[in-house]
Amino acid sequence: MCGIVGAVSERDVQGILLEGLRRLEYRGYDSAGMAVLDGKSAVQRAREVGKVESLAAAIEASPLSGHLGIAHTRWATHGEPSQLNAHPHMSGDRLAIVHNGIIENYQELREELKADGFEFTSQTDTEVVVHLIEKNYRELGKLYDAVKTAVTRLRGAYALAVVHADEPEHMVVCREGSPLVIGVGIGENFIASDQLALLPVTDRFMFLEEGDLADIRRDSIEIHDREGALVDRAVSRFEHSADAAEKGEYRHYMLKEIHEQPRVIKATMEGRVTDSRVLEQALGIEAGELLQDVRHVQIIACGTSYHAGMVARYWIEDLAGVPCSVEVASEFRYRKHVIQKDTLFLCISQSGETADTLAALRQAKKAGFRAALAICNVPGSSLVRESDLVIMTQAGPEIGVASTKAFTTQLTALLIFSLALARKNGLSAEREADIVKALHLVPGQVSDVLALEGEIAEMSERFVEKNHALFLGRGSQFPVAMEGALKLKEISYIHAEAYPAGELKHGPLALVDSEMPVITVAPNNSMAEKLKSNLEEVRARGGELFVFADRAANVKPEENIHVVQLPEVHEITAPIVYTVPLQLLSYHVAVLKGTDVDQPRNLAKSVTVE
Ligand code: M6R
Repeated sequence: MCGIVGAVSERDVQGILLEGLRRLEYRGYDSAGMAVLDGKSAVQRAREVGKVESLAAAIEASPLSGHLGIAHTRWATHGEPSQLNAHPHMSGDRLAIVHNGIIENYQELREELKADGFEFTSQTDTEVVVHLIEKNYRELGKLYDAVKTAVTRLRGAYALAVVHADEPEHMVVCREGSPLVIGVGIGENFIASDQLALLPVTDRFMFLEEGDLADIRRDSIEIHDREGALVDRAVSRFEHSADAAEKGEYRHYMLKEIHEQPRVIKATMEGRVTDSRVLEQALGIEAGELLQDVRHVQIIACGTSYHAGMVARYWIEDLAGVPCSVEVASEFRYRKHVIQKDTLFLCISQSGETADTLAALRQAKKAGFRAALAICNVPGSSLVRESDLVIMTQAGPEIGVASTKAFTTQLTALLIFSLALARKNGLSAEREADIVKALHLVPGQVSDVLALEGEIAEMSERFVEKNHALFLGRGSQFPVAMEGALKLKEISYIHAEAYPAGELKHGPLALVDSEMPVITVAPNNSMAEKLKSNLEEVRARGGELFVFADRAANVKPEENIHVVQLPEVHEITAPIVYTVPLQLLSYHVAVLKGTDVDQPRNLAKSVTVE
């Protein structure tokens, strides 16, 4: 949720940290701060409320300077966004810390530390950690030992980076439940919540495992695991080009990411499908044997990734005939569940660091299942490391908080998986070939939809004054409608709900009047006629309809019916293509409303806390 970055170098680190924060701002953006050490004086610290640019301005006015530093961009959990609650937090004027995560037992520790005479200046859970380390430092005299002892007292999730003015040659970092990556440089080293933060300075990374504690110096990296054993963590190279994380000619990351979809969908198919079939080995060496055993699929995810899972349920049950359940991770993890031994536990996550999804996976492991499959976009993420099988989506870095290309590449990967599972369950070669051929057409069809952007942008003007919107779909288009509603609400702040169109008359129809735009995804499929009857129900109540349909669906524009004609697509691949106009619609409504498209209020890209 928050972003942390750190550097130890011969050169001045202020610029490296600031650029790192800018790149991490998608993780949180209500305040930002930095602490730098020069080896002579006490810790120099700057903290500002608001976005990283406020911190940049403050630092420009009174620069920090030094060769060791840590920095943070915050998404508030404990305590409002304020300068006092912003990180780095300090104990005295020589010890500073940045933290991503949540310390669950902070109240208890706070009382204990107060009784020891420590004074608290913030409402954060993080401040207990810095005082706890200081308390240990006074006894043990070494920063590494002080951090190692302190973390044994912490319950919850954390990635920490700690520096002390009396030991200005190194920082101590650790992780438990929150991501942390080490960037390996030449004569300098770095840490961050995400590789993207460090791409201007390195493309070589080490991923810390849960429970790891590391001592980072200019010329050495020493990592100990939870048991205290010295361990090697493999160094891997960042796979995407550095400019994948830049906005380029686009006004917003979200728009850039929407337009990248033809390319990244294709990349996600590469090496996994031939002209007419899926290559199950591309899902992993053990995939063939494993899929043979699967009798049930349990999908777990949050937000947009959950909607991808909802679409996949239609595919898995339709094509493979295998029962499939889908549940949001935050619910699944807190209820008693029954998991059969031959269940494939499928977690979908763009970031691979979503706390609820990871917790659900860890819990389900205790209950036992056949295997865990991850559909994920971030190599080396916790989810990838903790799963038996992995299908990496090839979306590249997704910076906009509103997920777009991650969703359509998840759908692509899920369709490939569904076909592989279906083949084990008697899907005919003809049907497989028919769907794989349709999948090959998707990148082109998405490009055709992107060409309709002008028309959709014009349509978006009709939403600017609205306060509510209804999204309708049937069958596998219902989750597409849910995703459309999520996009609209998260970036334009218009209240939006999605319904399976058949449910309209069971309640939501009461809401329909001229002030309630009704957006419908209506490809010509087996549900088209039924859907059209639902549209008539809306029209009869004076509702204004915005319909995305193909020519064959034969929905005619009339008064109060606006139709955007989409390409004709295969019924199975239609959810991927029909998602795109809804992304464009939300984007243009948000731009017209003047909201912060890439960093909508109250949200963060990667939800690594509960
Ligand atoms: O990284 P994940 O896919 O696990 O994230 C799950 C949700 O937080 C995420 O999809 C969220 O709903 C999107 N930002 C919405 O656009």
